[in-house]
Amino acid sequence: MSYQLIDPQGRQFPYLRLSVTDVCNFSCDYCLPDGYQCDSKKHFLTLPEIKNLVSAFAELGTWKIRLTGGEPSVRKDFDEIIKTIKAISGIKQIAMTTNGYKLKERIQNWASAGLTHLNVSVDSLDPKLFHSLTGHNRLKEILAGVDIALNSSIKRVKLNAVLLKNVNSHQLGEYTSLLKKSKLSMRFIELMQTGDNHDYFNRYHVSAQVLKNYLFANGWTEKLREPGAGPAIEYVHPDYQGTFGVIAPYSKDFCNTCNRLRVSSVGDFHLCLFGEHGFSVRHLLQSESQREELKQTLCRLLENKRKQHFLHDNNPGGTPHLASVGG
Ligand code: GTP
Ligand code: 5AD
Ligand code: SF4
Repeated sequence: MSYQLIDPQGRQFPYLRLSVTDVCNFSCDYCLPDGYQCDSKKHFLTLPEIKNLVSAFAELGTWKIRLTGGEPSVRKDFDEIIKTIKAISGIKQIAMTTNGYKLKERIQNWASAGLTHLNVSVDSLDPKLFHSLTGHNRLKEILAGVDIALNSSIKRVKLNAVLLKNVNSHQLGEYTSLLKKSKLSMRFIELMQTGDNHDYFNRYHVSAQVLKNYLFANGWTEKLREPGAGPAIEYVHPDYQGTFGVIAPYSKDFCNTCNRLRVSSVGDFHLCLFGEHGFSVRHLLQSESQREELKQTLCRLLENKRKQHFLHDNNPGGTPHLASVGG
């Protein structure tokens, strides 16, 4: 019998976000306000488990895998993970989201292993501010890594910055200069409230409208959305090779075109990036012979996917119980 990843809204899911670890070597204030608590009992998905998982998704029509964390590159077998996924029939794009710590040293190896798309977090272009936001004085090295990536076989390089009131919200012009001559996509993400960052959220959240106003005032225009595009709205300017992007999860129609699902580092299947409860499918990742049962289970679980994420449930300013959004 052939199964399909299609939800009650008729949405299809060519894209899987796969967290390969919860460990992160940075301590970004908005993500981990109390610092990273290492749960040493947690065992992250193994290479054979990842292979079984991605093979099932690929057979269900998924062709893009985004590797996330924590910080995915802290896995010692990260190159092997990329190679294993590349060998799976049907997978056309392998992307990663990274804090860039190992970028300069490792990007050529990742590209050779099969990485095709790269998103790097750069929350400030001011080295001191970057240091205080992330706990690492590595801005220069990270930007050098981004340059190497732009000149490698990687097809698309995007930078992410979480929009923070009075931190980077008034430094938008500095990012613009990066886009003059390089085909980077610079995306600003509206700060999302998690169970852990309540006070931080109240202090630093600023609506993405501030950014949109800046872009319109400076001659940037909204690009027509391509079919299958992600949550970012893109802006272009005739004098710039690069683009700006805005990810505004609180905007009303953010979920309409949702095309992605998520599996956590321990094999929990999440129907939404904001979905706090996952369904464990790890017991079905132990052997290739479980493939049909795994596919059937994923499709059955997908029937529970909601129309939109729960921050839209009448309480955008309320207290969500979401632990983090990094993965
Ligand atoms: P591409 O579109 O493939 O470039 O990836 P992306 O923008 O989804 O990936 P990235 O890991 O760079 O995520 C950027 C931000 O978008 C993060 O803050 C994510 O939490 C958020 N995000 C991405 N996809 C979703 C989604 O489906 N739902 C929600 N709520 N947030 C998302
Ligand atoms: N709000 C918005 N973006 C966040 N990220 C992590 N936590 C938050 C949050 N609370 C971003 C990171 C990275 C991406 C995976 O998610 O900066 O770019
Ligand atoms: Fe690590 Fe990313 Fe969270 Fe920063 S946002 S602490 S880099 S997982």
